[in-house]
Amino acid sequence: MRKSVIAGNWKMHMTCAESKIYLEEFLPLIRDIPNDRKIVIAPPFTAISTFSSYTDFEYLNISSQNIHWEDQGAFTAEISPKMLLEHGVKYAIVGHSEPRKYFSESDEQINKRAVFAQASGLTPIVCVGESLEQRERGEADRVITRQVEQGLENTDPSNLIVAYEPIWAIGTGKTCEARDANKICALIRKLIGFNDVIIQYGGSVKPSNIDEIMSMSDIDGVLVGGSSLEPNSFARIANYE
Ligand code: 13P
Repeated sequence: MRKSVIAGNWKMHMTCAESKIYLEEFLPLIRDIPNDRKIVIAPPFTAISTFSSYTDFEYLNISSQNIHWEDQGAFTAEISPKMLLEHGVKYAIVGHSEPRKYFSESDEQINKRAVFAQASGLTPIVCVGESLEQRERGEADRVITRQVEQGLENTDPSNLIVAYEPIWAIGTGKTCEARDANKICALIRKLIGFNDVIIQYGGSVKPSNIDEIMSMSDIDGVLVGGSSLEPNSFARIANYE
């Protein structure tokens, strides 16, 4: 049976001091979660050492928001697996629609990041998703197929998370209908050809829709932005029924 993965992506939010206050409140709220799930938070790089100073890591795993495909070198603003592993980081988000949009991240770069993350012992969380225009033109399946085929080439599906995040549902309050999201997640699973691959949904996940989303057959977890920034709200998501 697939273990679900509930992950918070803090994006460019939270200082070290704010992270500390958050963790003091959040950790007790997830202490009794069932062991069919893992909880992950991807704080900004500067707050990663604050996270790793908490020893309670059976309950909470750390993710980075990016990862480079070399261990060191002249790559200003990048971060390497070696630097992250030193802090107990276990996951790395790659291919999020924000770097795809603002920094023109390509499927080829995303693939290099994912492959090197795995080679370094980290689990990549590879994000895919179509824009509103692509969905309205009926191109969602084709876009997702391209992103999966190119972004996941030569990756090991047994150490992989794919997050389906329709761009039009991110930060807009518009959640993709759970059944529609489930169909795309099933397509991703079929394309990968490995039944046990973990597939998340992301885009306006909140306490009021988490139970329905997690009841879907092909959704094994969520990647949460805004609602992961408040301890009670993310704890409610982590404690989905
Ligand atoms: P929201 O949950 O704020 O829509 O963000 C989703 C997201 O981008 C997670 O990576």
